[in-house]
Amino acid sequence: MRTVYSGLVDEKFIGQTVTLYGWVHRRRDHGGVIFIDLRDREGLVQVVCDPDRPEVFNTADKVRNEYCLKVVGLVRSRPEGTKNDDLISGAVEVLCQDLEVLNPSLTPPFSLDDDNISETARLTYRVLDLRRPVMQRNLRLRYKTAMAFRRFLDEHGFIDIETPALTRSTPEGARDYLVPSRVEEGCFYALPQSPQLFKQMLMVAGFDRYYQIVKCFRDEDLRADRQPEFTQVDIETSFLTQEEIRDMFEKMVRGVFKEVLGVELANPYPVMRWDDAMAKYGSDKPDLRISLEFKEITDLCKDTSFKVFANAAAMPNGKVVAMNVPKGCQLPRSEIDSYTEFVKIYGAKGLAYIKVNEKAKGREGLQSPIVKNLSDEFLNAVIERTGANDGDVIFFGADKKKIVWDSLGALRLKIGRSEFGKKAGLFTEGWKALWVIDFPMFEWSDEENRWMACHHPFTCPKPEDVDKLQSDPEHCYAQAYDMVLNGWEIGGGSIRIHKEDVQEKVFSALKITPEEAEQKFGFLLNALKFGAPPHGGIAFGLDRIVAMMTGANSIRDVIAFPKTQRAQCLLTHAPAPVTEKQLRELHIRLRNEHHHDEQ
Ligand code: AMO
Ligand code: AMP
Repeated sequence: MRTVYSGLVDEKFIGQTVTLYGWVHRRRDHGGVIFIDLRDREGLVQVVCDPDRPEVFNTADKVRNEYCLKVVGLVRSRPEGTKNDDLISGAVEVLCQDLEVLNPSLTPPFSLDDDNISETARLTYRVLDLRRPVMQRNLRLRYKTAMAFRRFLDEHGFIDIETPALTRSTPEGARDYLVPSRVEEGCFYALPQSPQLFKQMLMVAGFDRYYQIVKCFRDEDLRADRQPEFTQVDIETSFLTQEEIRDMFEKMVRGVFKEVLGVELANPYPVMRWDDAMAKYGSDKPDLRISLEFKEITDLCKDTSFKVFANAAAMPNGKVVAMNVPKGCQLPRSEIDSYTEFVKIYGAKGLAYIKVNEKAKGREGLQSPIVKNLSDEFLNAVIERTGANDGDVIFFGADKKKIVWDSLGALRLKIGRSEFGKKAGLFTEGWKALWVIDFPMFEWSDEENRWMACHHPFTCPKPEDVDKLQSDPEHCYAQAYDMVLNGWEIGGGSIRIHKEDVQEKVFSALKITPEEAEQKFGFLLNALKFGAPPHGGIAFGLDRIVAMMTGANSIRDVIAFPKTQRAQCLLTHAPAPVTEKQLRELHIRLRNEHHHDEQ
């Protein structure tokens, strides 16, 4: 039996004979003595194999990296000067008395100490990648975090209830993953994008407080913070107000961060209305570590002779926005030019700017391709409104509001998080959490040519907006809230509609006909008729939270077996073709027959 994990052998064990199991992390042959760093999930210990024991020495001579070993040996103090303070076992070593190779290993395709392994190699050889200490740490921190959530929820009376994975498509905005039915020809299950409707029905069923740490599936374009299957800490409660829900769950997240990382999040969180977040930061998930802010100047632009600004100000939904960057004059011209290219990714047509060299000199003190087009009055008003000082640069966005928000919002993050931003004091390290509330109910979709739910169609409008749902959908706000941390949306939820008539009005605003509603969500509408309690909830993105906690660049680094950007698993080669027999059973014929020869 193992005495202790290798990584935990410390001075307490000096003088004892221990049995260890692990892998060869490194083997060093010091002419006559062989050192093996034996690694297991808790860390490393140095094993010394000397020629006094020929069987041990001869075996040690043959072992290579990643061989799996059993070691029996005597723990002793390391000689003075060879101690390693970075390791728990750094003051001791194990003098090997018996060495057994449990299994040799092929030469690993990469060194486990390498920090620059390609992601393809890492995902293809995931078992080796997962042996790396950083990945062991990430997955254990994930476990610890999930346990901290569970503990809080359990202590507050939440019950874990499983909901189906084979269900029918519920609209949450993304594309569904479908599973064909064998029994019902031509019918499909959908994997849940979230358990939204089930958790609402559990409230109608009287469970009062539900939670589940649950896989959700969304067939969307993947990025660093998105996976086709990801994990939510999914929660629903009855009889609590929005404020009570927010209070409870910021307390939960504060507790989890404190317990897992020792980090203190704001108490209470700042709360920001969606309109204000967009106006100040161009984003509904603002990174508050960055001090840069927007100032709207549309009103100053109506009569300017600079057409770019005047035209945007005159557009329906047009805006002109200024963002002052303190000390921006230190930015080289080439950097500013690269920003101009950068904002084009977000649809901006250009990036006007003014360098404020010496504002006391009036227009002479300003340097910019556009000042010649602008009046003294306008320039003074802009400097006053943005609070620009000598040495600053003011950037401008002029377009439809969405383009201005997206482009300047992205530029704000880019500058704020850059080396320049850090040196210029525009960025403060730390953990900045907040709530963004009062989201719009709807956003217009050009593609669908109709209003779409911003959150989902079961979100309750603010009471004062219920009567405007049909007449003025653009100005209806929702009782919806997102929890944001350092520019990431880590959770989102809402108060739900519990009255059938309000639900019908929302469907109608979404151009979902009563027949369609009955067909798709009849089961929910029906449930609402049987004394549905007022209810609401929230879901947190566990992968994102853990990725932030570990400092990982991507949520792939906190998921044991993630998928690539193309939604493939490089380990199992999923998705993969299936046999003709399987397809036949499922009543499926492929459109492109050459993918699959008829047998
Ligand atoms: P929402 O769609 O906002 O809400 O999802 C909740 C949280 O889940 C995380 N998340 C993701 N994480 C990784 N990969 C993805 N593809 C992905 N998509 C979302 C985010 C997000 O904040 N049913 C509602 C919740 C509710 O109203 O209670 C829902 O699913 O961190
Ligand atoms: P132009 O008059 O098109 O040469 O543009 C003059 C300056 O305004 C250039 O610096 C452009 O990058 C910038 N610019 C052009 N269009 C926009 C826009 N929609 N928003 C902000 N700046 C713009």
